[in-house]
Amino acid sequence: MQTLTLTRPDDWHLHLRDGAAMADVLPYTARQFARAIVMPNLKPPVTTSALAAAYRERILAALPSGLRFEPLMTLYLTDNTSADEIRRAKASGLVHGVKLYPAGATTNSDAGVTQLARCARALDAMQEVDLPLLVHGEVTHAHVDVFDRERAFIDEVLLPARRDFPALRVVFEHITTQEAAEYVAGADGRIAATITAHHLLYNRNRLFMTADGRTGMRPHWYCLPVLKRERHRQALLGAACGKLGRAERFFLGTDSAPHPKGEKESACGCAGCFTAASAVELYAMAFEEAGALDRLEAFASFNGPDFYGLPRNGERVTLERRDWTLPAELKFGDTVLVPLSAGEVLPWKLVT
Ligand code: DOR
Ligand code: ZN
Repeated sequence: MQTLTLTRPDDWHLHLRDGAAMADVLPYTARQFARAIVMPNLKPPVTTSALAAAYRERILAALPSGLRFEPLMTLYLTDNTSADEIRRAKASGLVHGVKLYPAGATTNSDAGVTQLARCARALDAMQEVDLPLLVHGEVTHAHVDVFDRERAFIDEVLLPARRDFPALRVVFEHITTQEAAEYVAGADGRIAATITAHHLLYNRNRLFMTADGRTGMRPHWYCLPVLKRERHRQALLGAACGKLGRAERFFLGTDSAPHPKGEKESACGCAGCFTAASAVELYAMAFEEAGALDRLEAFASFNGPDFYGLPRNGERVTLERRDWTLPAELKFGDTVLVPLSAGEVLPWKLVT
């Protein structure tokens, strides 16, 4: 197969940041995707509909002319989010989900939730107005191994929350484990999951060695939840390609998360991989490896809008089989970022 044509995809999990840095990364996403669910973990976080509406205006103002793109906004859930704020968010028509960051779980999560029980009024309102909860699914207790934090979250947080708020619709964001994939495939239809390209392509060895097997710390492969063992990667590929069943519950969410080069290449490097400049191409690589390129369109373009209750896109995009090399660095405000897989050759290129 030399070309691949699909309905224009959407990105159901994206970090755009703000200001000049946002203006630099936004065109990469807008060139590939019609819409994206925009994460609210700014400094300060996007905790109200008014802040979300203002952030949306800044995104639209930064969009280069000739590109069409719809930012789908989210609220950042805190211990203090009120039921009224949830109702305002739904009524705004601009907010499509409310993001749960367990406090301390990841980048800019300090204002996140300390105990989900404190959010009962907000969660009640969310199930009443049908505004989905988007979860960063990791516990944060120091005694829980970093590689086990997603699995522990399912039993400790997700199952009790779904029992207590049975009508709440949930997106289990950027799943990384076999346990999460199997849970979503086996649960009721009110839960779905996003999967990143990097968790489909790489296992945790990539954190500690190059593609050709040389050892060394690889900060640009560090994100949260962290890359896992090969058996988990295989389970995620299986989920995305329909081998677990219920393929419609799994959809594309890049979790593209830009950071300045110097903050990644540091003694305490930030979590986050920048994939927006090559997102669809990376997913095509992963689906081709799994022998399931025919499954890519549903994952990238149908399952997300269907779950969010939004129309599927009308336009189509084309990828060509053509080797290209990702640049080593890209401009990022007054500094630079290093894209994931910088310098590596990718076999597919988006041409329209
Ligand atoms: O790796 C990550 N980076 N995981 C997250 O949950 C947040 C993100 C970021 O904002 O950089
Ligand atoms: Zn994220």
